[in-house]
Amino acid sequence: MDGKPTINLGLEGIYFMESKICKVDGKAGKLYYYGYDIEALAARSNFEETSYLLLHGELPNVKQLADFSRALSEERNLDDKIIDMIKSVPKETNPMHTLSAAMDLIGAYDKNAEKTADNESTSIRIISKIASVVAAIGSIRATSQYTHPDPKLSHTANFLYMLNGEPKPKEVVKLADTMFLLHAEHSSNASTFSGIVTISTLSDIYSAVVSAINTLKGPLHGGADEAALKMITGGIGKDPDKYIDGIISSGNRIMGFGHRVYKTYDPRAVIIKEQLKAAIGDSDSRVKEIAETAFGIEEATIKRTGQKGIWPNVDFFSGPVYSYVGIEPELFTPVFALSRAPGWCSHIMEYLKDNRLIRPTVYYTGETGRPYKEINSR
Ligand code: SDX
Repeated sequence: MDGKPTINLGLEGIYFMESKICKVDGKAGKLYYYGYDIEALAARSNFEETSYLLLHGELPNVKQLADFSRALSEERNLDDKIIDMIKSVPKETNPMHTLSAAMDLIGAYDKNAEKTADNESTSIRIISKIASVVAAIGSIRATSQYTHPDPKLSHTANFLYMLNGEPKPKEVVKLADTMFLLHAEHSSNASTFSGIVTISTLSDIYSAVVSAINTLKGPLHGGADEAALKMITGGIGKDPDKYIDGIISSGNRIMGFGHRVYKTYDPRAVIIKEQLKAAIGDSDSRVKEIAETAFGIEEATIKRTGQKGIWPNVDFFSGPVYSYVGIEPELFTPVFALSRAPGWCSHIMEYLKDNRLIRPTVYYTGETGRPYKEINSR
């Protein structure tokens, strides 16, 4: 090898496949799921219809959507063994660990887990069950109770029903549903890439989704929504300029800002911010105060980082919206996971169509031929 090759840390800028699922235009701040602009989907579609689009590449007609919704509804129940496992973990367990363990166990019990030909129906099972598991985790942590699903409710309405033990008003369901749709897919983000690496070994779809769940957990990725709300509610509202200057001068990261691809406002954050503004009109003072503090931090940050291409991402305003919907902070990242399940499953199935084991190369800078010494002579 002549000389050191170019090292792309974090695989930044490396193309490893072709895909038709999602376009993330980082310069223009645009996002498309199978060619549909996220603004149109957020305004006119819903999570179930968008999940169908992500799994099939086409929007469903009336019958296709009815069949898909029924299939999701039929998969909502959790086996007692899963509920008992969720009840058995200590209260302080990070819910992402519980979610990962529960989905792995569901896969272990699924006799079709290893059948690639069944991946489409298994994807529906995963999309449905991951929402039931997150709701069960939240409900059992709060009340030690599990609420059985209601087959008559929509996917999102049922999630909120299982989480809270009672139905939520339709405008709250609609807001949550839009949030799930906005989080449903984002091309080769770290968790999706992790799932693709797993499936590239011809492992099974549950194992690939569990890899994705475990990858999403980190604060540089899906964990940023909870970290951002902690920052917003951490008493910095009085002087956001001073607080933001402190983070920047310490070389730390402002949670909910910046993105590997977007060097302008994340289009999802634009929509979520508008949804938040519309929601706080009639919300209680606590959510209104959180939202107004968030707007103050946004202004203080953009003044300092906008010209460096660091703008709010999908995670910054998600926390205040989820607080309004009544979701606790420790459930934010599990909710991100249930939202991203259709995107993960779509990429897993797409990659399998032209599978190639993913195995990049490292540039070795160590020694070779070191003489082995017996332990007593070291
Ligand atoms: C998600 O990939 C996806 O699509 C992910 C996602 C999806 O839908 O799947 O969009 C979801 O993960 C959104 C991102 C959530 N994470 C956070 O909000 C955590 C805070 N953000 C940063 O850690 C950071 O912006 C990343 C990790 C998101 C992206 O960082 P990069 O591309 O690796 O950039 P970098 O860390 O190398 O930073 C480049 C420069 C640095 O300055 P210099 O050292 O070159 O002077 O930008 C600065 C950084 O200091 N910078 C920030 C910053 N993000 C980048 N400075 C302060 N605060 C930040 N948030």
